[in-house]
Amino acid sequence: MKPVKIGLIGCGKQAVKHISGFKKIPGVTVILGDTETQTARTLAGKEGLAYVNDPQEIFRDPSINAVDICVPTPSHAPLIRDALNAGKSFFCEKPLCETMEEARDIQQVADQKKLAGMVGYVYRFSPIFELGKRLFEDVPSTGHSAVLGKITYAFLRLGGRGGHQAWKHMKASGGGAMNEMMVHMIDLAIWYFGRVKEAQLLGNMLIRPERPVGGKLEKVDGEDFVLARLKMENGVEVFVQSDLLTPSFSQYVEVEGENGSFFGSIQPEVPSYVYCEEPAAGYPAGRTPVNFGYINIFEAQMAAFVRSVRMGSSAAKSSIHDSILLFEAVTALKGNMR
Ligand SMILES: NC(=O)c1ccc[n+]([C@@H]2O[C@H](COP(=O)([O-])OP(=O)(O)OC[C@H]3O[C@@H](n4cnc5c(N)ncnc54)[C@H](O)[C@@H]3O)[C@@H](O)[C@H]2O)c1
Repeated sequence: MKPVKIGLIGCGKQAVKHISGFKKIPGVTVILGDTETQTARTLAGKEGLAYVNDPQEIFRDPSINAVDICVPTPSHAPLIRDALNAGKSFFCEKPLCETMEEARDIQQVADQKKLAGMVGYVYRFSPIFELGKRLFEDVPSTGHSAVLGKITYAFLRLGGRGGHQAWKHMKASGGGAMNEMMVHMIDLAIWYFGRVKEAQLLGNMLIRPERPVGGKLEKVDGEDFVLARLKMENGVEVFVQSDLLTPSFSQYVEVEGENGSFFGSIQPEVPSYVYCEEPAAGYPAGRTPVNFGYINIFEAQMAAFVRSVRMGSSAAKSSIHDSILLFEAVTALKGNMR
């Protein structure tokens, strides 16, 4: 197996999940970097990994094949450019960057240099949503599912309390319910139903300008409730809602068709199912429960990234191009946000 050495930049919450995935893959070594050297040193000690004193050393090291970027959103684009200019493929946590212009620039440089880029839209690796993708295989081009029939509408929700760091709740650092949460659901909607034709912001609120973050009451300005309507090019109507207000975490995707329904959640305790009025494509009439149990989706995601690095191919899921399609919708919605 071809050895792969990954330089992971940003040693906070996401880094730990990525490392647990990399550790399961034979032939992969990871070296850590963070602007706070002590943070890199501490995580390196805990995980039994090497670290650098300055993240820039990662770009200069020719033995490092690829870079994994797990830092706050405003630093994504500059670090991705550094990686590509150093001839290294990259994985970047979501969202890819802050503007469409940055996204197009990243795509152009990656294409020129024939390097792969992948973005952390990890819901695509959940078996329940992979099942959804199979159910909706033909929907982007036809609006019609072999199981559910003609799709009438979909509702996707992701609600939680958001991260324990204040930057995730502040506009200036790319925080708020849109970047933190809703991008995941819009990404799933595009994966299932194709390109967005119209994006309409139905609600954008700051309900708790003061909220507990990481155990402290913080004054924040990032929106904590967003509701949007997406009209897809194939005519499917999609409603997406996200917030930073839900104490218990709540996530689901509900898709309605003329012959049935799909209800899927990343939460194993929530009953997911496929329902058909008439039997279709191997599904009987009535409700077919679906439960994949607990799956570590970060492991599946990092394995897919390492496969694309090993094969020198672009990412099969969550590519830079997928993020550009997502940006079309997000840019339209953000144009209507205060
Ligand atoms: N896919 C998901 O489900 C998911 C969940 C949470 C966060 N995220 C994303 O992951 C990214 C990181 O989030 P996190 O929760 O790990 O954040 P975090 O605040 O826990 O950690 C970020 C780390 O990056 C370091 N850092 C900051 N700027 C840097 C720079 N320019 N160079 C090097 N190091 C730098 C900080 O010192 C810190 O240690 C964000 O983009 C966030 O949106 C994704």
